[in-house]
Amino acid sequence: MASFDVIVLGGGPAGYICAIRSAQLGMSTAVVEQEKLGGVCVNIGCIPTKALLHSAYIAGLLKESKEFGVEASGVKTDYGVAMKRSRRVSDQNSKGVEFLMKKHKITVVKGTGVVQPGKKVKVGSDVYEAKKAVVIATGSRVKGIPQIGLEINKTTVISSDEALLLERVPESLAIIGAGAVGMEFADIFQAFGVKITLIEALPRILPIEDAEASDTLAKSYRKRGIDVIAGAKVTKAAVGKDKVTLDIEAGGEKKQVTAAAVLMAAGRAVNTENIGLKECGIQLTDRGFIKVDQNLQTTAPGYYAIGDVVGPPMLAHKGFREGSVVAEIIAGQKPHAIKYDNVPSVTYCHPEVASIGLTEDQCKEKKLDYVAGRFPFSANGRARGTGETEDPRGAYRGRACVRDDPRAGRRARKRVHGRRNRPCDPCTPDDVRGDR
Ligand code: NAI
Repeated sequence: MASFDVIVLGGGPAGYICAIRSAQLGMSTAVVEQEKLGGVCVNIGCIPTKALLHSAYIAGLLKESKEFGVEASGVKTDYGVAMKRSRRVSDQNSKGVEFLMKKHKITVVKGTGVVQPGKKVKVGSDVYEAKKAVVIATGSRVKGIPQIGLEINKTTVISSDEALLLERVPESLAIIGAGAVGMEFADIFQAFGVKITLIEALPRILPIEDAEASDTLAKSYRKRGIDVIAGAKVTKAAVGKDKVTLDIEAGGEKKQVTAAAVLMAAGRAVNTENIGLKECGIQLTDRGFIKVDQNLQTTAPGYYAIGDVVGPPMLAHKGFREGSVVAEIIAGQKPHAIKYDNVPSVTYCHPEVASIGLTEDQCKEKKLDYVAGRFPFSANGRARGTGETEDPRGAYRGRACVRDDPRAGRRARKRVHGRRNRPCDPCTPDDVRGDR
């Protein structure tokens, strides 16, 4: 039986970073992955979406280019071409992860792994033993809403997985859920000429962000012809061969929306089934995530869990941090605890929304003494130059995460504000703490 110090189940962002950090700390490491390395983020999530968002951005830019002294006539969009480019970007990133595995002498085991008692992992007929720890990083998947007839069928009811591989766009698309996924795909498909209806159950779109950001985006999307319906309940779905009709209740009124396809973006389910958790004594929380302690150790000693399987925020960089922290803990180090209330988040639609810390409503709920600062993009020379001054009532602000140190809010604001016109990797809590 082959043995390693650390065996990581799942080669997505949380898993591959955990493996790299483990190897860097001198531990022999294996990663078990059933598909391509890089997980959802690299292969069917963040990375291809960002490539498509850029295509959408170019399409939008060309429509308004005359104002900038550049006339573009006969502009055509072709989703198939954009999709193929996004696949190349994804594949390069996945190969990059493969390279990192080789560079750090990490063994990649191809196949579906099942954890077993005694810190073992079974892949097919082979069993691997972990001398120090098994780390579960199996991630999450899109979920449908079967109770109202919306089961993903990959043709008329699709998820982001299928949306990212379409050769041609549907004529019309109803998107259920206006979280990050729904917002980003509404942006992409609208730019490629699809008639979009965006349906959100909560009273406003992108509900995890400040109300002002939601209002701005709702206005911007409506201006572009996207039908935004918030506070809406989909009560029934009739799924046909080439169209879907949704019965919706919103604001006390009933209406029907018919579209050529429905994109499910109403959250994700974690991959905790059939991986041997129960047999190892690994318990789940009431909400179905893997239960972990402050060291990300599960209820079974020697088994850790990281990334989406331990709960929100389901973000690649949160998984990165957990992966690295767990590797250090396994190696006997004492890394800084993760500050889950300081995880930055960006929704890369246009206009983009970036945040860190608490929203203003959360500050109010917690009865905190807070400062909300606002700076208008219309007063930002760079934003005026690029014609991107669209912002909440002429002002945008970073979240005011003010607790013991009022300066923290100002710093966060500076970081968040600064990235509006220069998208890059999200800032870390250290950026906020640092006096920049
Ligand atoms: P989400 O949980 O962020 O948003 C789902 C939305 O659907 C919520 O606003 C919810 O209220 C709504 N919803 C739920 N049931 C509904 C129903 N029956 N009818 C209408 N609306 C309904 O999930 P999402 O957008 O699928 O994203 C999944 C994860 O991936 C999230 O953690 C997200 O942050 C992450 N992600 C991050 C991105 C980024 O960092 N840019 C991009 C895409 C996803």
